[in-house]
Amino acid sequence: MDKVQIVEVGPRDGLQNEKEIVPVAAKIQLIDKLVAAGLKRVEASSFVNPRWIPQLADAEEVLQGIARPADVTFSALVPNLRGLERAAASGLREVALFMSASESHNQKNINKSIEDTFPVLQEVAREALTLGLRVRGYVSTVFGCPYEGSVPLENSRRVTNALLEMGVFEVSLGDTIGVATPKQVHEKIGALVKDVTTERLAGHFHDTRGTGLANVAAALDEGLRTFDSSIGGLGGCPYAPGAAGNISTEDLVYMLHGMDYETGVDLERLTEAGAFIQQQLGRELSSKVLKASLACKT
Ligand code: HMG
Ligand code: MG
Repeated sequence: MDKVQIVEVGPRDGLQNEKEIVPVAAKIQLIDKLVAAGLKRVEASSFVNPRWIPQLADAEEVLQGIARPADVTFSALVPNLRGLERAAASGLREVALFMSASESHNQKNINKSIEDTFPVLQEVAREALTLGLRVRGYVSTVFGCPYEGSVPLENSRRVTNALLEMGVFEVSLGDTIGVATPKQVHEKIGALVKDVTTERLAGHFHDTRGTGLANVAAALDEGLRTFDSSIGGLGGCPYAPGAAGNISTEDLVYMLHGMDYETGVDLERLTEAGAFIQQQLGRELSSKVLKASLACKT
């Protein structure tokens, strides 16, 4: 059976966008439940400026509290050397760099132009690799920007190549505001895989307009086998107005298993993690599989 890797980003992309700050103990329980469901790659938090993302200011405490089985890779976003220092002190073996394909989103999200971001991330990557860490990269706004609208493929290609040259092992292509359609996915990812092997690319689809899973199916056709998703469908970017959650991990796993892909995830235990965070947040989450599984239990 063909395998698909899932990168669970709920504790980071999901919780960074919640109005109320989720207590550390609940974050720790959530991550432990995600791991118990079989997820092997979990983005646990962000070591960004806590004034920009107060929701994740407790990254150190979360990483200190979670169980860390040897076969699970935990990662976190780092925007600069200060972030890397904090991540390394928390014992992380992987970090993720992030920037945008569009100038305005890059500026709003990390307070720098694209040109000024390259040397900063280059230094972070160099230092992280020297410390023996694995480095992942994100390119945001590949399929559209909340401030500029459509974004030329050339921008994404340039940023993807720059991140790969810095030594990242994988670049996650972000549909930050969930505007992509399968046609666009075929066009853009189909063009990028001409230069970059599919093993080094991942799909990161937000589901603002209901096209997230259809976009995964299109990206699978283009050869991608790594996808980011978020428990319950939590998520969004506070610096991308109108961005909704990522595709839900429950819905992604359900679809992949039904298409005969192996994920290593136990859907039953995964929905327990979804039900847990839904109860913590006190509102209904967008995951359809979670809704269906809870409806079947009543
Ligand atoms: P800045 O304010 O320009 O930073 O922010 P600075 O270097 O001028 O520093 C200002 C102060 O912040 C200093 O403290 C620093 O020490 C402190 P002061 O001297 O004033 O007391 N500081 C830090 N403290 C702790 N940890 C740090 C850190 N860095 C600086 N790492 C910066 C620039 C990039 C740091 C800021 O803009 C930032 O943190 N941005 C992050 C925004 C963010 O997290 N956005 C969401 C994640 S991206 C996303 O969701 C998209 C994605 O999911 C993919 C997709 O969907 O497309 C990945
Ligand atoms: Mg995102």
